[in-house]
Amino acid sequence: MIRPCWSLGLVFLLGLAALGRSSAARLGAAVSGASDGGEVLEGWGDEDGWRAAKRLRRGINFGNAWEAPPGTWGDRRYRAEDFRAARAAGFDHVRLPVAWHHYQGGAPEYLISPSVFGEMDALVGLARAQGLAVILDWHHFDRLTETLAPDAVAQWHAGWAQIARHYRDVPARALVFELLNEPRDAATTERMGELYPAAIRALRAEDPRRTILVSPGGGGGLYEVPKLRLPRELANVVVTGHCYAPFLFTHQGASWTGRITLTTGLRFPGPPPSPLIAAPGAPAWVAGWIRDYDTLPAETNPGGPASFAKEIADAAAWSRREGRPVHVGEFGAIVRADAVSRENYAAAMRAELERHGLGWAWWDWKASFAVARETPDGVRMDEALRRALLPDAPALPPAGPTRARFRHPVR
Ligand code: BGC
Repeated sequence: MIRPCWSLGLVFLLGLAALGRSSAARLGAAVSGASDGGEVLEGWGDEDGWRAAKRLRRGINFGNAWEAPPGTWGDRRYRAEDFRAARAAGFDHVRLPVAWHHYQGGAPEYLISPSVFGEMDALVGLARAQGLAVILDWHHFDRLTETLAPDAVAQWHAGWAQIARHYRDVPARALVFELLNEPRDAATTERMGELYPAAIRALRAEDPRRTILVSPGGGGGLYEVPKLRLPRELANVVVTGHCYAPFLFTHQGASWTGRITLTTGLRFPGPPPSPLIAAPGAPAWVAGWIRDYDTLPAETNPGGPASFAKEIADAAAWSRREGRPVHVGEFGAIVRADAVSRENYAAAMRAELERHGLGWAWWDWKASFAVARETPDGVRMDEALRRALLPDAPALPPAGPTRARFRHPVR
């Protein structure tokens, strides 16, 4: 099944960025910013945005469902049990990715079908019943991000106006909107900075109180956040970015990222106990990256925390300077990676994000990057990953006697 295609340019940049960031000096600089706790960040700026961001500390993406073109790979179904288990595990919000454009009629109204609203209403209701806040996002709108064609922009505005009207009576603290997932290609950070104010105005004409999340271009990369320029007067806005570094580890064996991620067996953190060889057919830069991964010491290894420390520190510093909260709406490691490495990665990323006061949402709950699975006793989060991501949440009741250690089949 064809999955959404990651911008290969972005992936290449990520590889280079990981290489470039692996110097001990840079990691040291990030570590010395350790006093950047959440409280420190809230000094000034968009007060409504800060208030909203406080409710979006630890979240989970319910992916591989509504963001897929109908009838394709979106085969996960979310029910009351998922929301209950996510809340019991200790999450405070869920992100629901939706490809609204598949459910819109033609110009000029671009009417969203009542049936998709019905489905989303049910999910928002299930989240509210558990006290989980919801980030409702617009995912994979490729024609918009690839072209920024005026009719696609009009369709986007019309869509958000309808969504805002539809959810006007849902309390602001229970539901927030994310305007566009992973803008890329024509939708550069600079262009998105120019487009967001009008999009927000169109939405706020229907619901002035709603918190809005906006993402930079470059595939929504967290490293692009410091380039985003938003008018100072734009209030009740949270900036969101994604961070999948070290990409070759987090996406190893992924079917939708091409030759770049053919090599599997990468552990976190590097270096591995015995050298890894790049898979035949991997691009030359991947082979070079793996050489560094095999040989560089832990502090500078591109397959360890050095790959994301600076990106996170820079986004947090921008947040402080601009007076705008930042949320990391996606990070995660594919189920193909070994269980211990996934735990190590989850714990290291969470610690780094929270040290800088950034809220986050892991991608995903029970698909290719799963932290939970269906069991005979219902949906359950893997306990080791739960300890890594939600270390101070109360323990779950013990698993049943027949439950084996978590393993998830790879799609
Ligand atoms: C995409 C998913 C993908 C994930 C990790 C998300 O933004 O929507 O389809 O699995 O990133 O690559």
